[in-house]
Amino acid sequence: MNEEQRLETNQIKNDPKANLDRLKNMDSDELIGKYFQSTYQPPNLKKAKKRLKKDVDIHYDYAVPEDMKGIGQGKKFLIRTYGCQMNEHDSEVMAGLLTDLGYQPTEETEEADVILLNTCAIRENAENKVFGEIGHLKPIKMENPDLIIGVCGCMSQEESVVNRILQKHPFVDMIFGTHNIHRLPQLLKEAMFSKEMVVEVWSKEGDIIENLPKVRKGNIKAWVNIMYGCDKFCTYCIVPYTRGKERSRLPEDIIQEVRHLAAQGYQEVTLLGQNVNAYGKDLEFEYGLGDLLDELRKIDIPRVRFTTSHPRDFDDHLIEVLAKGGNLLDHIHLPVQSGSSDILRIMARRYTREDFLELVGKIREAMPNATLTTDIIVGFPNETDEQFEETMTLMKEVGFESAYTFIYSPREGTPAARWEDNIPMEVKKERLQRLNALVNEQSKASMEKYEGQIVEVLVEGESKKDPDVLSGYTERNKLVNFKAPKSMIGQIVPVKITKAKTWSLDGEFVESTAEVL
Ligand code: 5AD
Ligand code: SF4
Repeated sequence: MNEEQRLETNQIKNDPKANLDRLKNMDSDELIGKYFQSTYQPPNLKKAKKRLKKDVDIHYDYAVPEDMKGIGQGKKFLIRTYGCQMNEHDSEVMAGLLTDLGYQPTEETEEADVILLNTCAIRENAENKVFGEIGHLKPIKMENPDLIIGVCGCMSQEESVVNRILQKHPFVDMIFGTHNIHRLPQLLKEAMFSKEMVVEVWSKEGDIIENLPKVRKGNIKAWVNIMYGCDKFCTYCIVPYTRGKERSRLPEDIIQEVRHLAAQGYQEVTLLGQNVNAYGKDLEFEYGLGDLLDELRKIDIPRVRFTTSHPRDFDDHLIEVLAKGGNLLDHIHLPVQSGSSDILRIMARRYTREDFLELVGKIREAMPNATLTTDIIVGFPNETDEQFEETMTLMKEVGFESAYTFIYSPREGTPAARWEDNIPMEVKKERLQRLNALVNEQSKASMEKYEGQIVEVLVEGESKKDPDVLSGYTERNKLVNFKAPKSMIGQIVPVKITKAKTWSLDGEFVESTAEVL
């Protein structure tokens, strides 16, 4: 904290209301988060739901706080990441912040001086896993009281989770949320010297902080955030509450980051957002995902992917740009969630089965070879057998090549959680099994088309099962395993497919690139 902030803090402590006026550009959460060192600032989902008009500022001036420099010398950190790619990437930022403080990474819990659990709130079982892990950490903390245990990510944004940790797991040292990751150094310092659990969760999103340090996992593929948050409020989903309102990064900042990654030799970038199709809607000028991809097409990086799309905002210009190909790949992940228009309506997805099929028709016309994959929820409240059958027929009609399938899980604070979760678990499980059997069948069929063909594979490394085998992905996101020299890791190489399995392809390296698929 600098001198100016220290003075302000004292004034705020003496007369917070009067001083709120003076600092009226900040909301009170942000104010407390920024100026109080010893914080107990729990989350509030109701506040998180509000979408304020206040503009988002962008900051380019992040630096390691002077009083924290070198605080991690000779110490180690471990970050466990749960959930989506957004969390994976946030963990890369936290690793960057800790590395800047002098910490080294470790994979061993017993060796770590700081352990962070970057959590996911999307379904109950994701949360149960984290609580299980917190339980496992207790004896380690008892052995090593100097160990700092932090819980962060989406679960921290929920009041119920923070209360449960406070009551049942008081050995946790700090809790922070998705909006104040950049405050990790300060919170860590506070946790080191405080006897109380440090809880700082901003219910309202903060500004965009541009130049946070990152330690990326690997040097072949990279994640690039293009926007934060989600304003769609699908009735089952906790994300708009845990990740705040939609905020887009400026195109020039994204383009510069991708250029930089290309110059460093990265072969692939995946643009990230909860709803990437809403990219640009909050910018002060007309600009969308199509415009951004049209720019990124010109950068000399072999592969550009993006995730996740919302069908509602998938516009014609985007399809037109994607059809230009080049480094824009022929794979679109397009979560449909249900094949029934009635269920889609109560999910507040804002499209019907017919709208979705029309969109798929447009995509297929412009990109006849594109792979389509999806997300589906079964057992949503009131889902009848007939409505579930509509999901099965949609799955076939679209010809999705793969799908992430989920049993509906009520999330406290969302509208759907107030409705009776009235589909019995056996029925939900039976629907999931039938759907998964169909997904497997369609995946296998899509794989079989590749037998005998030559595909281009970005080689990521040794296969998980056999270190003599290399593995990587095709442009259309098919996992390929094949034998080749390790020197090929990081390159895009031609592979002839010899055998199709349900979820992967076996192949052999070939010299020629003729007839590459
Ligand atoms: N229950 C089950 N699945 C959910 N998803 C999001 N919220 C829930 C929930 N409450 C699924 C959706 C989404 C994916 C990331 O997780 O299918 O696309
Ligand atoms: Fe959740 Fe995606 Fe719907 Fe946003 S668009 S509310 S992240 S399912």
